[in-house]
Amino acid sequence: AYVIAQPCVEVKDKACIDECPVDCIYEGPRMLYIHPDECVDCGACEPVCPVEAIFYEDDLPEQWSAFGPANAEVFETVGSPGGASATGPLGSDHPVVEGAPVLSV
Ligand code: F3S
Ligand code: F3S
Repeated sequence: AYVIAQPCVEVKDKACIDECPVDCIYEGPRMLYIHPDECVDCGACEPVCPVEAIFYEDDLPEQWSAFGPANAEVFETVGSPGGASATGPLGSDHPVVEGAPVLSV
């Protein structure tokens, strides 16, 4: 799956949402998350993010390695709803994101 990393924190451009054919990019209070089981690896979201926050999981930079598990674990309570727009925003961020500083770009 693809993963959203720290550059999204407090930026939340949301250009990625419009590109995703399966509506698997979910909004949290501080950033957005890609559902690892719903993402079909089409890669359409990756080039449109203006702050380059999106990576294929195997290409995630080392300093943001915690965001791989974070994009999965944030869905532990909601499971696999099958669509972000119908589900609405997530009520809380992953703990890794709650403490993450905003990166200047
Ligand atoms: Fe975030 Fe980039 Fe999408 S800033 S909301 S990952 S377009
Ligand atoms: Fe959607 Fe990006 Fe995956 S566009 S299907 S989240 S690679």
